[in-house]
Amino acid sequence: MRTEQPKMIVLSEYRLPDYLIEETHLTFELHESYALVHARLVMQRNPGLDDTLPPLRLDGQQLELVDLALDGQQLSAVEYTLTANSLELQPQRAAFELTSTVRIEPQNNTALEGLYKSSGMFCTQCEAEGFRKITYYLDRPDVMSRFTTTIHAEKHSYPVLLSNGNPVASGEEENGRHWVTWEDPFKKPAYLFAIVAGDLWCVEDTFTTMSGREVALRMYVEPENLDKCQHGMDSLKKSMRWDEEKYGREYDLDIFMIVAVNDFNMGAMENKGLNIFNSSCVLAKAETATDAAHQRIESIVAHEYFHNWSGNRVTCRDWFQLSLKEGFTVFRDSQFSADMNSAVVKRIEDVAYLRTHQFAEDAGPMAHPVRPEAYMEISNFYTLTIYEKGAEVVRMLHTLLGEELFRKGSDLYFERHDGQAVTCDDFIAALETVSGSDLTQFKRWYSQAGTPRLAITDSYDAASQTYQLTVKQSCPDTPGQSNKQPFVIPLSMALLNAQGAAMPLQLANESAALTGERVLAVTEAEQTFTFIHVAEQPLPSLLRGFSAPVIMDYDYSRDALVFLLQHDTDGFNRWEAGQQLALQVIEEVVAQIYETDEPMLDTRLAEVFTALLAQDDLDPAMLAEFLALPSTGYIIEQYEHADPLAIHLAREYVSNQLAFALKAPMLERYQALRKVSLETAYVAQAEDFARRRLQNMLLAYLMRTEDLEVMDACLDQFGVADNMTERLAALACLVNSPFVDEAQKALESFAERFADDPLVMDQWFSVQAASLLPGGLERVQHLLHHPDFSIKNPNKVRAVVGAFSTQSTPNFHALDGSGYAFLADKVIELDRLNPQMAARMLSPLTRWQRFDLHQQELMQAQLKRIKNSGELSADLFEVLDKSLP
Ligand code: ARG
Ligand code: ZN
Repeated sequence: MRTEQPKMIVLSEYRLPDYLIEETHLTFELHESYALVHARLVMQRNPGLDDTLPPLRLDGQQLELVDLALDGQQLSAVEYTLTANSLELQPQRAAFELTSTVRIEPQNNTALEGLYKSSGMFCTQCEAEGFRKITYYLDRPDVMSRFTTTIHAEKHSYPVLLSNGNPVASGEEENGRHWVTWEDPFKKPAYLFAIVAGDLWCVEDTFTTMSGREVALRMYVEPENLDKCQHGMDSLKKSMRWDEEKYGREYDLDIFMIVAVNDFNMGAMENKGLNIFNSSCVLAKAETATDAAHQRIESIVAHEYFHNWSGNRVTCRDWFQLSLKEGFTVFRDSQFSADMNSAVVKRIEDVAYLRTHQFAEDAGPMAHPVRPEAYMEISNFYTLTIYEKGAEVVRMLHTLLGEELFRKGSDLYFERHDGQAVTCDDFIAALETVSGSDLTQFKRWYSQAGTPRLAITDSYDAASQTYQLTVKQSCPDTPGQSNKQPFVIPLSMALLNAQGAAMPLQLANESAALTGERVLAVTEAEQTFTFIHVAEQPLPSLLRGFSAPVIMDYDYSRDALVFLLQHDTDGFNRWEAGQQLALQVIEEVVAQIYETDEPMLDTRLAEVFTALLAQDDLDPAMLAEFLALPSTGYIIEQYEHADPLAIHLAREYVSNQLAFALKAPMLERYQALRKVSLETAYVAQAEDFARRRLQNMLLAYLMRTEDLEVMDACLDQFGVADNMTERLAALACLVNSPFVDEAQKALESFAERFADDPLVMDQWFSVQAASLLPGGLERVQHLLHHPDFSIKNPNKVRAVVGAFSTQSTPNFHALDGSGYAFLADKVIELDRLNPQMAARMLSPLTRWQRFDLHQQELMQAQLKRIKNSGELSADLFEVLDKSLP
């Protein structure tokens, strides 16, 4: 808990470290009720600075100092100063050795930061500032050191002792204890340090790198999970090959290890040579994990692996530069997933996620630039903006420079800065060097928060065959920032003729036309592009592939949207046209929903869906995306002040109407797909993902008709499916249907079958917590009392509290405020145990400005109640402080 008022850390106050740590020698003595950490730090005055000897201030939290010596001389209590966060002393020479012993209590560490215990094993999470909970240290990423680590533990319970690098020695001790020493040849910041000790089993494989070196690959898991490693291992090998081929990056150690742990705040962590994963982000087999989980695992394994270069070999100077590694690495993993699966579907998924969640963050009280300028608690800045918007920024650079120059730039970046801790400016500088372009204006994407808006208008003059596109950009004020300067916005576009073919594109000052599509560089607040030799009135296809993270307004008629959905030559824009059409239809219903039981529905939506369903040559993956209505969360974001209940009702109404209108062709298609699924063994690959996604999408529509034949089909799919994708989708349909008894039976049989598998039980919890049926609050209260629920396990908290507050719209936003009060209670409870989780779970309440006055007041009341609930962590304090008016 917090003992001092949290301070703002400010980018402009960055100073080089006074001292450096050349070598770090750690010895851990792990015991059941405590651990001792001995550290020997070989230090020196930073040679880049003057030769005075300022006081040395080491970071340290929740450490009990047992022993401290400078150059072998024991220090007495008057020779150093301890505070809750630091240890200060006066070095006597420019080069010296500091040795310390601290005592810590990993078994009582519920914050899951530093060294902690999870299901009988010891593990660590040091990013961003967890290492200071392990020993006194310069816990900042620009202090890079060579680590040697020895772990002592009881052998029977902890036969496996792991750390970064290579094992160099080991031995037995009396009393059934043993030890292992690991040496990491690469200098690294403390946030990449890790140890693991446990009774773990290992799946092994090998990978031969592009220069012919053989790397041992090991996945360490609890014995019952050995059969869930294959997919993760396959994903790892694909990632290693892809990074060689696409970026020329080779792995650099002889061993690469992945460990799965059950209690983990985030997805995974890229510790050098020893990646630690939330078990939900690496363990999978067909019977227990959905297709979505398989795809998520493929991308997270890739993400952590890719960090070995973008993050570890070249790291961040300070935490303001977090997106340097995260934005770039998310961009890299999205390119990888696009190559492994359907590129268009991947883009659609990423954009839907970005626009629903990151745009909401950027419009709320926690809005911050991709490179923030100040923070209180860095853990609060592992955000959608840093990760997802950061990746979009890198993607725009890739679009502007083109594939080849971008690769040259990344090569130069890795070569120039290998072994260094650098800044976002260094990344941009490498791209400037190879391209010869000036990216000064582009860098506003790093410094200005908020989602830019593009307002586009056009006019066609038949007589002169000219077509003009006028683009205006603006960006709303965000906390601490107003009057934004224009961004550089790559606007990918094409002009379609009446047949839907792309027309030649020639700007007034150009001598020849381009065919297909092109990227316009929008750089001014207002800009007009004039195209010549335009033979007929075109229909513009704009922001193709979502070429920039902006909100675009162009006034398409509904007929134009129908046309684009069927004919645009850009797959992403086809989907986008359908989304806009559906959005307009739903918004129309929102306006009528309280007035009438039978709102008017534009029939064009059902008509175009019917046409799409009848089109045999349409890729099932695309069809599934086209049929998916915009999510409730996305629709909410379209309003200045949203009524979540009306939006929910309207979306349900439109879905139901579509289900009845399309029942026959949907049922026919569903049965055909289901037959294929029954006849083929489960394979985790794009084609099969597509089939099951469409099949499940159709089932969900069909279940809305409450037809008994469909219900039987659903029960059958639930009962006999050999994979979790089909089984869970059927269960979700049942749980959201009026067939309460069938749903109850299905839930019981599911729980019985998977009682021993916590990752499957998470899905069981979450499908109920997310249910849209009335009575949601009682349901989640009930789930919290289930013996398998634990507030200390982040996956369980996300499955129940998270699913309820982000997915169960009508229950979370209940008019009496009970949903908000529930979330507030849980946040208060969580903050005592795990501040990072508390701050994260709070985020739905911080979005109050987006809602109607009634909801605003209820949400604010809960924020105030939390604020007055007692002593708060720095994490929660910062979020509350920023989100209360
Ligand atoms: N660097 C990790 C990743 O994105 C995230 C770990 C951050 N953990 C935290 N507790 N803030 O791959
Ligand atoms: Zn990352």
